[in-house]
Amino acid sequence: MRLKQTIKSDLGEILKMEQDVSNVEFIIPYDLIEHQKVMNEKSEEHLSIFDENSRLVGFILLAELYSDNNSIEFKRIVVSDKGKGYGSKAIQLIQKKCFGEYNCNRLWLDVFEFNLKAIHVYEKLGFRKESIKSEYIKSHQGHKNLVIMSILRNEYQYSTGWPKSEHKHQKYI
Ligand SMILES: CC(C)(COP(=O)(O)OP(=O)(O)OC[C@H]1O[C@@H](n2cnc3c(N)ncnc32)[C@H](O)[C@@H]1OP(=O)(O)O)[C@@H](O)C(=O)NCCC(=O)NCCS
Repeated sequence: MRLKQTIKSDLGEILKMEQDVSNVEFIIPYDLIEHQKVMNEKSEEHLSIFDENSRLVGFILLAELYSDNNSIEFKRIVVSDKGKGYGSKAIQLIQKKCFGEYNCNRLWLDVFEFNLKAIHVYEKLGFRKESIKSEYIKSHQGHKNLVIMSILRNEYQYSTGWPKSEHKHQKYI
């Protein structure tokens, strides 16, 4: 499984994924223009997830990459081929990228409180619930709660042992 910068020709499939009944209730779908804006924005990343056969199986959006507070927003993940571990693996790669390449101190996200599967995956990978924004999003079925979750750099280091090479060479005297 690999993450690659999204290119224009991925967007048709990505727009379909967002509108799919298995995804649409868990996100606030973007239109083509909004996706293109993310692709062109320097402080954001639009990444496509490809399986081992180079099939597009999802995408990820990151925002606030260079915030003064070193806090990156993990804005969205959608996986079309669910339950095969692609989501978990992709999030692990995102954590590595954000704490490694972008040197962030905090990686955060929001998720609908009823999205138990996503919350399970996030908690499994070290994100903690920080707070709840009550009845924050208006939908056809009423107002929905959003859960804010985050993982801090030291929590990531502690749970993964990252960065391994530094640990190996650390001297105690
Ligand atoms: C959430 C999502 C990204 C996860 O990706 P995925 O590839 O399906 O997830 P994985 O296969 O890596 O892992 C699924 C895990 O959820 C668990 N799970 C499945 N249904 C569940 C449920 N109803 N409640 C709790 N856990 C559940 C599985 O047992 C598995 O756990 P495990 O790894 O501990 O065995 C994907 O399902 C998705 O795109 N959902 C719709 C869009 C969405 O919700 N995006 C997140 C918005 S914040």
